[in-house]
Amino acid sequence: MHPFRLCSLVALVSLSLLLVSCGPTRTQDRVDDPEIGLLDTIERNMEIAVTQYKLLRDSLPADRFPKTYYADRNELETSGSGWWVSGFYPGTLLMLYQETGDEEMLAEAKRIMQVLEKEKNNTSTHDLGFMMYDSFGELYEMNPDEETKQILLKSAESLATRFEPTVGAIKSWDSDQGDYLVIIDNMMNLELLYWASRETGDPKYAEIANTHANTTMANHFRPDNSSYHVLNYNKDTGAVQEKKTAQGYADDSAWSRGQAWGLYGYTATYRDTKDEKYLEQARKIADFILSNPNLPEDRIPYWDYDAPDIPNAMRDASAAAIMASAFLELSEYVEGDEANRYVTTAETILRTLSGDDYLAETGTNGGFLLKHSVGHIPQNSEVDVPLTYADFYFVEAMQRYKQMH
Ligand code: GLY
Repeated sequence: MHPFRLCSLVALVSLSLLLVSCGPTRTQDRVDDPEIGLLDTIERNMEIAVTQYKLLRDSLPADRFPKTYYADRNELETSGSGWWVSGFYPGTLLMLYQETGDEEMLAEAKRIMQVLEKEKNNTSTHDLGFMMYDSFGELYEMNPDEETKQILLKSAESLATRFEPTVGAIKSWDSDQGDYLVIIDNMMNLELLYWASRETGDPKYAEIANTHANTTMANHFRPDNSSYHVLNYNKDTGAVQEKKTAQGYADDSAWSRGQAWGLYGYTATYRDTKDEKYLEQARKIADFILSNPNLPEDRIPYWDYDAPDIPNAMRDASAAAIMASAFLELSEYVEGDEANRYVTTAETILRTLSGDDYLAETGTNGGFLLKHSVGHIPQNSEVDVPLTYADFYFVEAMQRYKQMH
């Protein structure tokens, strides 16, 4: 979830002071801005997104959540509230409401969040950060009321039940074969725990998050700073038993969305802790991505950096959108050429995703915004389709970009 509210407030205040002291209106101020093209494109994209999300809303069964859309058979695929993607639809609607003021976005977000709320009691998934913090967390930032706070605290409590001190990590996936499976994606669920400690003053949630981040840092990464997707720990000793993939090309390949989750996850963990070692980890992941010879010029990664059929391999717009959002935040924590490199990468991604190749024509794509993401190639599932989380992180990245300018 985007963290730049305070930052943007400061930026807004500074901007107002600048405008008062220098005279020009914001519109005039932007005439000579080299980024005027991208900012205007973002405004246009937000309007397109509102139109698209009304289309999506109108085809959604009442208690279902959008996953993807298959154009060849005009089929919207949905899930129940317990699937890991359920928070992205309301989260996107809330950001679109913030950006455009369209009340229908807020009303639809609140409607679907009534269906989502029961997942606060779900102890069978590690994805409660995605599901609850990207939705109720966003709503709480807009309007910090007691009811939303209690939903989030209960969600954090449920997530914390999946932490095993011997392993030092939150279990990602349950197994009936005694495996203790932890995936790199799980770094994305820690924001909810840090939030809970800040709200309650009880350090236990943050301690779990710190321990999980440390264990992941120690075991998930390779010498080249790429990460494995799945680690299998021995629950009784905490020893690593297996390092493998589920969604990547091979056990020792670099699955693109996994690298993006790591980049975003350690950047957010640095924001929540201000512990330099997490910033260093995020910078190392950034280095792996940006120095990878298989990262295309347009910065939309192939679905796996080691996919065998590069340059003909499928691209993954979802990984690109997550990277854009993460690089924008990371740029705020470093300086000089390094910061410029991260911003330039994010800009390139945003420009590419805003072009005809990736941005849906209004009225198409089942109401989703972006085309060409990849869910799970090894299972031949969700291949070259829109995905709800690609849209979420694209809108978040555009919102972050606006707030930084
Ligand atoms: N967290 C599952 C995925 O990235 O597909």
